[in-house]
Amino acid sequence: MQLTKEEQSIYDGEQGEVMQKAMEILVALGMIYDAEKLVPIKSVQIAGVSYKNLGEAGKEFLEWWVDHNAKVRTYSTLNPAGTDLTSWKELGFQEEFSKNQQYIVDLYEKMGIIPTCTCTPYEIGNLPKFGDHLGWSESSAVSFANSYIGARTNREGGPSALAAALIGKTPYYGYHLYDGRKANNIFNVEAEISKDSDFGALGVLAGKATKKGIPLFKGLPEMRTYNFKQLGASMAASGSVALYHVDGQTPESRAWDVVADGHEVHVIDSLEEAYGYLNTGSDNVDFVSLGCPHASMEEIIIVANMLRGKKVKVPLWITTSQSTACQAEAYGYKGVIESSGAKLVNDTCMVVSPIEEFGYDTVATSSGKGCYYMQAWCKVRTRFGSMSQCVDAALTGRWTE
Ligand code: F3S
Repeated sequence: MQLTKEEQSIYDGEQGEVMQKAMEILVALGMIYDAEKLVPIKSVQIAGVSYKNLGEAGKEFLEWWVDHNAKVRTYSTLNPAGTDLTSWKELGFQEEFSKNQQYIVDLYEKMGIIPTCTCTPYEIGNLPKFGDHLGWSESSAVSFANSYIGARTNREGGPSALAAALIGKTPYYGYHLYDGRKANNIFNVEAEISKDSDFGALGVLAGKATKKGIPLFKGLPEMRTYNFKQLGASMAASGSVALYHVDGQTPESRAWDVVADGHEVHVIDSLEEAYGYLNTGSDNVDFVSLGCPHASMEEIIIVANMLRGKKVKVPLWITTSQSTACQAEAYGYKGVIESSGAKLVNDTCMVVSPIEEFGYDTVATSSGKGCYYMQAWCKVRTRFGSMSQCVDAALTGRWTE
């Protein structure tokens, strides 16, 4: 791996222990993946925030960097935390957990990272442009940046994203390269795509079929931005997919030929298998979770209009960033949601919060990724369907097909 003079001096420890350690992480990663050099990046999204996942070991890891006065050189935002940092008490989160969570967010802030606590940083000011190189972690955000925007990032882990933020560079391999972005799996979609959850269901099937491959979808109807979020998040969960193209809709599929030689071709003529996989819960719904990935203003407005003048029977949380919640409040939608008894919950989500301690059996959601991880990590059963089906479940306590 070729290092510039300055990079070599950092590697040799001439700019201190913190920078040396960060450079060692990047060089080790670059050597594993045969990167020829480091490439400057425009922004970083850092995952590894929830105390539920980090625990004491993660806390100590972060303390080391703060104690050694680590400061990021790159515009950096933060993934969701394990609690709503302001309303944790009224939402029922444990005090000790919430205090540990705030402490972790404070550690990140001390390093100069903006405590956005959202997995949709592109909605609130960390919005890259086509072709930008990034050092992002958080699988759904990586997928969105690569696919919808046409920016370039590998799927960083928490430590490599932090190292990239400190150095301002990342190893140049994988999705940073033109040839690393070509589709090696083509999906001809013949199944009917008629509701918002169909994109998440499609993503589950495509992710399982490609396994870290790069899909190109043909035959999809015109998509809304939130459809891209759901499709990408599902594929990231079921198959670690970090980049996909949609024929005629994503920017690279319009800019050049994105099909790799020797690609595989698949036909998807039904989404039934995905709905079967994601619907493991009973018809009695205990809790409804929307906003995975974190809800945009458009999604909040859609749900608020469904709830207007009605009352929920079981708890409905719409998870989003504080910034988006502030906008929703300014335009009156937060009030509509809260009048129905539902809640706009900030900074966290049902997967990275300790939902298993709430004692729910069946949680309904419109997110394929949410189902995937709630089943695996949170020990709850799930009901999966459109935003409208989820709102109905919140109003009645029952799941209807
Ligand atoms: Fe975001 Fe949590 Fe879903 S981090 S993508 S809302 S699992």
